[in-house]
Amino acid sequence: MVEGDLHMNLILLGPPGAGKGTQAKMLTETFGIPQISTGDILRAAVKEGTPLGKQAQAFMDDGKLVPDEVVIGIVTERLQEPDCNQGFILDGFPRTVAQADALQENLRELGKELDRVIALQVDTEALVERLTGRRTCKSCGRGYHVKFDPPAVEGRCDACGGELYQRDDDREETIRKRLEVYERQTAPLIDYYRNAGLLIEVDGMQQIEEVRETLLAALRTE
Ligand code: AP5
Ligand code: MG
Ligand code: ZN
Repeated sequence: MVEGDLHMNLILLGPPGAGKGTQAKMLTETFGIPQISTGDILRAAVKEGTPLGKQAQAFMDDGKLVPDEVVIGIVTERLQEPDCNQGFILDGFPRTVAQADALQENLRELGKELDRVIALQVDTEALVERLTGRRTCKSCGRGYHVKFDPPAVEGRCDACGGELYQRDDDREETIRKRLEVYERQTAPLIDYYRNAGLLIEVDGMQQIEEVRETLLAALRTE
């Protein structure tokens, strides 16, 4: 099967630090389809001090979910952009059953369907280590890890030379809270999408490159 024939309306599902952003960036490069990260969109809004950012900041700093209607609104608009016509990778959305239901409805109205939902599985202690060591580029958003994926020059992005920073919500206390929120509000989506026949489970404990290979192989079957 050639790459162009793949149906690529994807969701990347997984706990904080599972590697959703890391793998989504690789998939966008491989397939030329956009990554839609609600976390990135919200962080950009906070940085710019827009009304959306002001509304979202307290929830994010607290490790809680931003209200469903806010993120549903963001994604509904984003999916109508022409660059989503060849496919898209949702990263960090949906995160509640209400968001998943809204997405189904929204895609139906747009005449689109989900093709796959990839669930990245990673142990809790590994997640904490990944998140405490994460660094992110201020300019292009690429993620790094001080130990597992260090930049060539400390504090600088390999891709664009931008400055690397540590996310406000990557403090250990907030990380634990985000993990609890994931278990309670987002983990039920694994059964939701398994029941819909869309779920592919990928071992996210492997090294970044190996996860990528596993994921690409899984997308190329069927
Ligand atoms: P969001 O930005 O989505 O954060 P998250 O879900 O907590 O996920 P992360 O971005 O922390 O992890 P990731 O899976 O992308 O991991 P990454 O690839 O960076 O959301 C932030 C906040 O925004 C939420 O708390 C909420 O308030 C709000 N929000 C967002 N979406 C929302 C929604 N839909 N509804 C309501 N609220 C919403 O990797 C992590 C680190 O590990 C990196 O350093 C990376 O280099 C490293 N790494 C990656 N893969 C590997 C590997 N295989 N081996 C070793 N290290 C690895
Ligand atoms: Mg992310
Ligand atoms: Zn960069």
